[in-house]
Amino acid sequence: MLVDIHNHILPGLDDGPESLEEALLLAETAVANGITHVIATPHHRNRKYDNPALAVKLAAKSLNEELLKQSIPLHILCGQETYFYNEMLQDLDGNLMTLGESGKYLLLELPTNYFPAFIFDILLELQFSGYIPIIVHPERCEFLKRDRQLCYELVRRGALFQINASTLVGENGLTMQRFAKHLIKHNLVHFIASDAHHYKNRPFLIKSAYKYIQKKFSSQYVTYFMENAKHVLEGSVLQPIPPISFKKNSTKH
Ligand SMILES: [Fe+2]
Repeated sequence: MLVDIHNHILPGLDDGPESLEEALLLAETAVANGITHVIATPHHRNRKYDNPALAVKLAAKSLNEELLKQSIPLHILCGQETYFYNEMLQDLDGNLMTLGESGKYLLLELPTNYFPAFIFDILLELQFSGYIPIIVHPERCEFLKRDRQLCYELVRRGALFQINASTLVGENGLTMQRFAKHLIKHNLVHFIASDAHHYKNRPFLIKSAYKYIQKKFSSQYVTYFMENAKHVLEGSVLQPIPPISFKKNSTKH
C-alpha cells in the first residue's frame, strides 16, 4: 500500500484537471508511481476556490466509478487542502472534513508571505478537540524560510509538516530543495506528498522523491514517511521523531 495525502486529482473543482480525461491521465501517473490510495485534497477557502465536503464526496465517488470502469487500480478518498481560518473547528461539523474522513488529520495551507499570529491558538484548539493538523509545503512559506526556529515551534506545538515531492527532486529550485532537506535533518518533516495537479506539468513524483530521500538520507526515512501516510489513511496516531531545535533565528542552509 502506498498512500498520497495531498493532490488535486478531482476534475473541475480547482486548479487540478479540467476534465475527466485529464484526471484519468493523472491517475495513471499515480499508478506508475506505485500509489494505491490517493486522498484527494482540492483547495478550500483559499479565496479562489471553495470545495465543501459534499462537493468533494460527489466528485470522488464519480472518479472512483470511472477508475473502476477503466480498470485503473487506484482508490480515491476524500479530503481538502484548507486555507487557515478562524472558525475551522466549528466548520468540522459541516463543510470541513478530515483526511480520508478518518476523523483525525487535517491538511492546512498557510499564507506564503506573512505569519498569521492566531495560528498557535487554532492549532491548540484543533488538537484540544482531537484533530491533528498537517501544514502543507512549509518550504513555500517565506516567513518560515527566514525564521527556522518558528518551524521548530510549530512542530513542537503539535503541527506536522508535509513537503512536496517536487521540491525534493529539485523542480522548485535549489533554495527550496535545500530548505526541505534542512527541515528533514531537524526531524521537522512527517510526510512527503505529491501535490499533483496535472499529468504533464505537475504529476505524482513520489517515486523519484523517495529514491532521492533514500540516497541523501536513508531507507528508514522512506519507511517513516510511508508509514506516516498510512496512519493518515487509517486515522491512527503516528509517533513523530522528536524535532531538533535550530539556533534562534538561524537562516543558514
Ligand atoms: Fe495542494
